[in-house]
Amino acid sequence: MDTPPLPTSDPTASALLAARPHLAMHAMDGLLLEGMPLNAVADALGTPAWVYGAATLRRRLGELSAALAGLAAVQYAVKANDHLAVLRIMAAGSAGADVVSGGELARARLAGIPAERIVFSGVGKSAEELRAALAEGIAQVNVESAAELAMLSGIAAAMGRTAPVVLRINPDVDAGTHAKITTGLAENKFGIAYAEAAALYAHAATLPGLRPVGLALHIGSQITALAPYRAAFARAAALVRDLRAAGQTVTRMDCGGGLGIGYRDEPGASPAAFAGALRAAFAGLDLHLMVEPGRWLVGPAGVLLASVVLTKNDGRIVVLDGAMTELLRPAMYDAWHGILPLSAVRAAAPAGPVDVVGPVCESADTFARGRALPALLAGDRVALLDAGAYGAVMSSTYNARPLAPIVLVDGDRACWATIRPRQRAEELWHAETVPDFLD
Ligand code: LLP
Repeated sequence: MDTPPLPTSDPTASALLAARPHLAMHAMDGLLLEGMPLNAVADALGTPAWVYGAATLRRRLGELSAALAGLAAVQYAVKANDHLAVLRIMAAGSAGADVVSGGELARARLAGIPAERIVFSGVGKSAEELRAALAEGIAQVNVESAAELAMLSGIAAAMGRTAPVVLRINPDVDAGTHAKITTGLAENKFGIAYAEAAALYAHAATLPGLRPVGLALHIGSQITALAPYRAAFARAAALVRDLRAAGQTVTRMDCGGGLGIGYRDEPGASPAAFAGALRAAFAGLDLHLMVEPGRWLVGPAGVLLASVVLTKNDGRIVVLDGAMTELLRPAMYDAWHGILPLSAVRAAAPAGPVDVVGPVCESADTFARGRALPALLAGDRVALLDAGAYGAVMSSTYNARPLAPIVLVDGDRACWATIRPRQRAEELWHAETVPDFLD
């Protein structure tokens, strides 16, 4: 007996559009982002190309900040999208930054984010990076191990500084997300074992150059349920009480990032619900709360434009000029990204299942399998949606593919600009040398 095909739960093109107010389909101009025809961007810069919406970034930061007003400070997780223009929008919206490297720290400062709103996370900060952070006078270092605590103490004391420190605890909570983006389980490399945190906090208070001021946690990314947050926050709140009972000073709680978005229009945790979980867990503790969202702020605001190079196997395989070298998420996490044709005529045509792949020589270079899309022909253009987070930042030049250009559209100001040109092929090898001894 033939097995009937599984009903596809993929949202339709009109459903994808309806859930994304910054996108619209115009009968003549095709897909618009904040009013800008994406075909015009592709005409000007070619494909693949990234397009971000400034008004969308502002609106999302505004929405999250409003939900957290008077409750928690927003430290944008720079790793999600570290372009200077994106960081400038975050700075203008009064966000701080969560950085994980000296490079991200330099970017955040360059974009105008004040040092006193920057926190430094990461499991393996180098001595040089810690020195740079202390020299800048950042708000706090989120320490993840006893070894890092000792290292930071030595560096701060030698510089004659006192480093505000929070200890990142590993609450051993399952965030219920993809294994590669889960961080809060005891088996993960992140944070300090919950059972050891109190002793280490007391130890930190005795070390020169350090001032322990609180705790941090981050349990994972693309979290769509509140229960894991509630569990982690409850463990953190209990530890705050224990520490205070033991005579320690605890004034700050950094609650991490991880708030998921509806790539597939699946219901997610809203900022209001997230705020509710924070409020419930830490009520009455008089803590300065912080959060480190990345994806929620920038993910929906970006798209990756690509063109169909050719189709094969009777149109069932669609080969794009964009690849895993631009958007790695499907290859790395089996991530689902909406795909919309830029042409209104194409978007309205009957859909059938196709595999959408890139030209890179890896089977993993596949954006979608069995996706319901209208018949696409060579030269047609598509937008891969919700590519603003962990998109351009995770790009590579594998297969000697130059980095794609980036455009910022500002629907609030009805203008746009290229904010990174397409990399020239020569730039790929301009710093390489062939030593004389090879001749
Ligand atoms: N804070 C810390 C300490 C983090 O490690 C992260 C993300 C964040 C905040 C921000 O998390 P978000 O709000 O963006 O979920 N490349 C993967 C995601 C890796 C996330 C790593 N850490 C992806 O494309 O799904």
